[in-house]
Amino acid sequence: MWLPCGCTSKYVASSFARRTLASYLHVSGRSRCNVAAFMPEAAGLEGVSGRAALRELSVSNSESFWAAVARHRLCWSTPFHTVQDCDLSRGKIKWFEGGKLNVSVNCLDRHVHTCPERVALIWERDERGSEMKYTYGELLEMTCRLGNLLRRHGVKRGDCVTIYMPTCPLAVASMLACARIGAAHNVVFAGFSADALAERIRDGEMLLLIITVNQGVRGGKVTELKKTVDTAMQSCPTVKQVFVAMRTDNPVTMTARDIAMEEVREQKANQILEIQIQAVEDVVCEPAVMNSEDVLFLLYTSGSTGKPKGLVHTQAGYLLYAALTHRYVFSYHDGDVFGCVADIGWITGHSYVVYGPLANGATTVLFESTPIYPDPGRYWDMVERLKINQFYGAPTAIRLLLKYGDQWVNKYDRSTLKTLGSVGEPINTEAWEWYHRVVGDGRCPVVDTWWQTETGGICIAPRPSDPDAEIVPGMAMRPFFGINPVLMDTEGEVLTSNNTSGALCMAQPWPGMARTIHNNHQRFIDTYFQPYPGYFFTGDGAYRSEEGYYQITGRLDDVINVSGHRIGTAEIEDVVNQCPAVAESAVVGYTHSIKGQGVYAFVVLKKGIDVQEADLSRQLNGMVSEKIAKYASPDFIQFAKRLPKTRSGKIMRRVLRKVVESDLEGLGDLSTLDDPAAGWKNKCQCQI
Ligand code: WTA
Repeated sequence: MWLPCGCTSKYVASSFARRTLASYLHVSGRSRCNVAAFMPEAAGLEGVSGRAALRELSVSNSESFWAAVARHRLCWSTPFHTVQDCDLSRGKIKWFEGGKLNVSVNCLDRHVHTCPERVALIWERDERGSEMKYTYGELLEMTCRLGNLLRRHGVKRGDCVTIYMPTCPLAVASMLACARIGAAHNVVFAGFSADALAERIRDGEMLLLIITVNQGVRGGKVTELKKTVDTAMQSCPTVKQVFVAMRTDNPVTMTARDIAMEEVREQKANQILEIQIQAVEDVVCEPAVMNSEDVLFLLYTSGSTGKPKGLVHTQAGYLLYAALTHRYVFSYHDGDVFGCVADIGWITGHSYVVYGPLANGATTVLFESTPIYPDPGRYWDMVERLKINQFYGAPTAIRLLLKYGDQWVNKYDRSTLKTLGSVGEPINTEAWEWYHRVVGDGRCPVVDTWWQTETGGICIAPRPSDPDAEIVPGMAMRPFFGINPVLMDTEGEVLTSNNTSGALCMAQPWPGMARTIHNNHQRFIDTYFQPYPGYFFTGDGAYRSEEGYYQITGRLDDVINVSGHRIGTAEIEDVVNQCPAVAESAVVGYTHSIKGQGVYAFVVLKKGIDVQEADLSRQLNGMVSEKIAKYASPDFIQFAKRLPKTRSGKIMRRVLRKVVESDLEGLGDLSTLDDPAAGWKNKCQCQI
C-alpha cells in the first residue's frame, strides 16, 4: 500500500519506527529547541539544542540523523530496517536497506493528493514568452502514460533506457516514467555527438531503448537530434526501439525501429498547440515497488583516464539527499518557484531541476534556451515573468553576462529573488560580487555550491544550517549535514590544522553518494577509495581558512572544466591521436576569462608529414566536436617537435601548463626532462 501524502504517517506511527527511532538516539535529557521549526525532519532528534548542534550530530551520530530525515521526508511502502551498511575501504555503500519505495510516487503522487493544481514544471521554451506550465496532476498523467507505453514495449524493471533529449517536460516525464516502472535511465546530454552517444549506449550493454525528439531548439538554432541518434544507431545493434517526440513540427524520417511518442491533438497555423503522449495509454500506471538500493539512474561523467564512467545512483539515498539539500541550501519554502538553468543532461539537472524540487513539491523551471538569446536579458526577463525565487546557474554564464553590462539586469524586476546559487566551477570574486550586487540587488545571499556527479547533491555550501550565517565571496564555506570533509597532505595524512590546503576527501559516507561505476566496481574503488584508504577522494584540492571555511582550489587530476562542463584531457587526446598525421598529443586546461578553463592541445606530427598547420587544426577541431561535443574542441592547437617527458616517459603536464600560462620563467627544474632542449621556449600558437 502506498502512502500518498503526509509521508510521516504510517512510518512514524508504526511500532517498528518508534522502536528504531528510540534506539538510534543516544543523546537524551537535554531540552528540545527551535531545531524542529528549522528542520521538521529532525524533530525526533531529542537533545539537540540549536542548529550547530544538529549539524554536529549529523556527523557524530549520522545514523540517527539520516534515519529521522529519511522517515520524515520520504514516503515508504515498507520501512527500512538498516540505516546504513557502508565500508569506504571497499567502496561498499548501502543505505536504508529493507526499505521499499517508488521515486515517482515521492515526486508526484503525494503532491497530487494534497495539491493537484500546483504547478510542477514551467517550461521556459527557447522562444521567449512562450512558456508552458504543467501541474502536478498533469505531470503525473504524462508520466503514467509514458510508463505504460514503455511497459507495453517490453521495458521491464531493471532495464535501462537512454534519454537523449533537451530540457523539456517530456524528458522529465521520461525520467520519472522509468522510475515508475523500475527501469533505470541514462540521460545523455543532447549536446553530445553521435559517437559519444553511441559509446554511452554500448557501455551499458543492457540498454535497449532510446527516447529522443525530432529536433532540438536552442538559442534560435535547430539541432538534428533524431539524425544524430540515427547515426549513433549504426554502431548500437542492441537498441531495438527509438521513441521519437516532436519538439518542432518538422517531420523526420522514421525507420522500422522508430515509434512516434505523441499524438498531435490540436494544431493551428503550423504551430502545435497540444500534443499528448499516445492517448491510448491509460493514465493509471501502477508504480513498481523498489528497494532502496535498486538503481535509479546511470550518468556518464569524465575521469582523468580512460572512457567516461557511468556513475550509478540508487533510489532512496539519492532522492533523500537531493531533496534535503534543495530545501536547506537554497532556503526553499513551499510555494517558491525554483529556477535552476542547468541542462537535465548533467547531474545538476538531475538533482536540482528534477528530483530535489519535485520531491519537495516545488515549481521547477525547465530552461531550454541560452543566457543571451535573444539578448543578454534573457535570465532576468525570465525571473520577472515566472516570478522565480531561487536562481541557480553557472559562473561561466555570470561572467559572460557581466561583460554585457548592468542595464540588461536592471531592465527587469527581480524582487521575487531570495537566493542566488552558483555551481560547477569556481566563481571568481568579480563575478560573485556582480551576481550579489547587481543581480541580487545586494540583498540575496549567493550560495557557491560545491559538489560532483559522484556526490549526488551539494556537499559544501555557505548556508546549509544557518540562514543568517556569514558568507565569504568565492568560498563554498561549510559542509552540509552529514558531510565530514578532511584535507590530506601529500603523504596521505589528515591535515588537522586550519589555514591549510590539501586533497579534499570525505571521511564518512552519506546517502547521496554514487554506489559504483556501471560494470566496473574495481575502477570505482581504484578512483575514489584507493588513493586515501578509508576515505572518499573527490579529485579536488581545497583550502581551509583560519575560521574553518572551505574554498575549492581546483582539480588535482587531469580533468578540466570548460564552461562548467567536465572533460578529461585524455578523452580529447584520444580523439586527436586518431588523426593519421598525429604522432602524439597532450591537452591541458588554461585560464579562460569566460569559460573558466579553455582547451589547449599540443600536437606532435608524424615524421615526414607535410601539412598546413591551420588546415590540420581545423580538421582536429572538427574531429573533437564530432566525436565528443563542441565544448571540448581545443581553443588553441600548438604544433611541437616533441613533448616534454620524464625519463620514465610520462608527459610533464606541469611544464605544458606553465608554457600555456606563458610563465616561461616558472618552468622549474627541468633536469628530469628527457630532452631539455626540445624547444619549449619557442611558443607559437595557432588560434582557431
Ligand atoms: C568542479 C557538477 C569550484 C569540481 C555539480 C568538481 C566546483 C567538478 C564547484 C564536478 C564549485 C563543482 N567551486 N569547483 N562550487 N562545483 N566544481 O561532476 O572540480 O559535472 O570536482 O558536477 O566541478 O563536476 P560535475
